[in-house]
Amino acid sequence: MVDLKPNDLVKSCKYIEMGACFALDGVRSCVTGTLNAPLLVTTEELNQDGVTYDLVVSRRRAIFEAINGFRDGQIEPCITCANLKEKPYKDVDFSWLGGEPLPAGMNIQHFSACNQRCTYCVFTVEDNFIKSQYDPIKFMELFHKAGKLQGNNWIDFSGGETASLKDFDRILNYLLDHDLGTVVVYSNAAIFNQTLYDALKKNKAILTTSLDTGVASSYNRLHGTKTFPKVIRNLIRYRNSGTHNLWLKCVICESNRSEDDLWGFVLAMLALRPNKVMICPDFPYGAAEVPEETLKFAAKLWYMVEELVGITPIDYSSTFGDAVWVKYHQDLPAAIAKVRQEGPLGRADDIEHLGPARIRDIFKYRLGRIRSAVWRSDLRQHLVPAGSERERKVVNLYRRTIGRLVGE
Ligand SMILES: C[S@@+](CC[C@H](N)C(=O)[O-])C[C@H]1O[C@@H](n2cnc3c(N)ncnc32)[C@H](O)[C@@H]1O
Ligand code: SF4
Repeated sequence: MVDLKPNDLVKSCKYIEMGACFALDGVRSCVTGTLNAPLLVTTEELNQDGVTYDLVVSRRRAIFEAINGFRDGQIEPCITCANLKEKPYKDVDFSWLGGEPLPAGMNIQHFSACNQRCTYCVFTVEDNFIKSQYDPIKFMELFHKAGKLQGNNWIDFSGGETASLKDFDRILNYLLDHDLGTVVVYSNAAIFNQTLYDALKKNKAILTTSLDTGVASSYNRLHGTKTFPKVIRNLIRYRNSGTHNLWLKCVICESNRSEDDLWGFVLAMLALRPNKVMICPDFPYGAAEVPEETLKFAAKLWYMVEELVGITPIDYSSTFGDAVWVKYHQDLPAAIAKVRQEGPLGRADDIEHLGPARIRDIFKYRLGRIRSAVWRSDLRQHLVPAGSERERKVVNLYRRTIGRLVGE
């Protein structure tokens, strides 16, 4: 190890310093989009109980040293990653697990076993459905026992199908009991889970489900099972928990880019009333760009969800940094603007002819847009910092007053 002074400038990244992504082959610092950071510890090491707190810290340091050219080692993909920043050595700290809500900074996906066979999913494409490989709680406990496990994380609990995981309840309860931060559970919702329902009811977890279409035959073909009725029934149950945390997604593939799929999805959103709607092109693994038809479909779906459901969708891929995604992010706003100009829904009806529910929806939609703009502003960051106690109070107050009035 070279002798570094506190003010020496080095390259480091929060993910290497405090992240943990529980992958099939071991624990990595991060997994962003289709890129995987180097392994910190392998599945074999974890299962042979050969992993200690000190070992993890030293492996993080080894990656950092390789990136900075102080020793040999794997430097891809970190060396070209936008998250790598220059900073004084005194600000580099490898001792903690978690502590900041880093997107994809704490991912739980140490299994790929699943009850569906989605045609777009890499596990289906590679026929790679593998049972749970190790116990992520054992790794977290190393930091917990050292007094170095911190909350305020963004945790993606994915897989495989989470609700079919034997240890699902135990892991979810551990994350919640240790107050580790925002837990997003990805589930296809074909299996109902009571622990998840209870966490949703208390707004302690977020559920993300890829519905992708509202057409039963299309869903069953795309997901490789005939589970559409169960998925809809379970989503209605989760909806009826009263949660603020039901997020639904449309992954756009060649097979669900039809007009029927588009309308089916929009009508399903009107029925299920998710709290967020996410739109994401099928991950273009290895492809040079997102197909033009997908961009057009995404733009039209975006417009229809905004106009008819009253929710501004989220670009699920917005934090992905590969060139393919950067181009998609650049092209999407213009494509939406073009659809808006074409106005595929015709002129909006006169407001007097609308029923009270629709007027409330329009009000809710306009209010939502103003709220999003205010919430994203610099002034809000200054007055109500993200993750602060004040933010919690403001959000609660909003939900108990305006949010309740407009049924959010
Ligand atoms: C791999 S799944 C695992 C969790 C759960 N089984 C589910 O389907 O939600 C996690 C997420 O990745 C998304 N996903 C999988 N393959 C994708 C692809 N090729 N493009 C975009 N999203 C994809 C799924 O839609 C899902 O939201
Ligand atoms: S449900 Fe999830 S894990 Fe299962 S095949 Fe579909 S995307 Fe993959």
